[in-house]
Amino acid sequence: MADAPNGDRAARTVVCADALEWLAANPLQEDCAILTSLPDASEFRKMTFDEWLAWFDAAAEAVLRATPGDSVALFYQSDIRIDGRWIDKGYLVQRAAERAGCSLLWHRIVCRAPAGTSTGRRPGYAHLLCFSRAFQAPEADGAADVVPAMGSMTWSRATGTAACEFALKWLRRHTEARVVVDPFCGHGTVLAAANNLGLAAIGVERSPGRAKKARELRL
Ligand SMILES: C[S@@+](CC[C@H](N)C(=O)[O-])C[C@H]1O[C@@H](n2cnc3c(N)ncnc32)[C@H](O)[C@@H]1O
Repeated sequence: MADAPNGDRAARTVVCADALEWLAANPLQEDCAILTSLPDASEFRKMTFDEWLAWFDAAAEAVLRATPGDSVALFYQSDIRIDGRWIDKGYLVQRAAERAGCSLLWHRIVCRAPAGTSTGRRPGYAHLLCFSRAFQAPEADGAADVVPAMGSMTWSRATGTAACEFALKWLRRHTEARVVVDPFCGHGTVLAAANNLGLAAIGVERSPGRAKKARELRL
């Protein structure tokens, strides 16, 4: 996927910190955009489901409020089923966007399994959502409505590489953003994919082990 100008490695910074505290203390520059996946309830063993839901609502809103007004925030989220209930994370992020005064610019579907497949606890697709407060997306951007495969996963909770590439190529083509921020960067898939496209990247991750991997990951 490497097509950085002259093969240069774009800059990458990874901070080991709580994402929401870091976003509050570090206002993003105008040339930053966000591409992230908020952590699932299964990552918070000490929280009840309702506590996670409240955390997710607040985190999505904080990410959207931290996004520069003329830039965009992209979320890659997959739904879950818990106790017979379907938790639509696309909806959760959209209601946070309403509170943050952001509009939905587009909503793509990323296939996590081939169409026609019946999957288990997680559906065979993920939401890829793009929001902004003031940026106007082109009416027709020429990009696919359904991304047919998410690509490879660098670890069990990774954003698929093809989904990263789809989002980042859209960002590079249609916005002025040249720095991609992933406040929940995990092993750094988004950061490495951004660097491969010549975009600088900033990641935040609370786990020291994952932050170390995120500094080193190459795709
Ligand atoms: C869905 S994973 C991100 C996956 C990432 N996009 C990748 O491809 O590697 C969410 C990450 O958020 C981290 N995380 C959870 N709560 C956090 C917090 N409050 N601040 C920073 N990172 C957090 C988790 O440790 C986990 O690595």
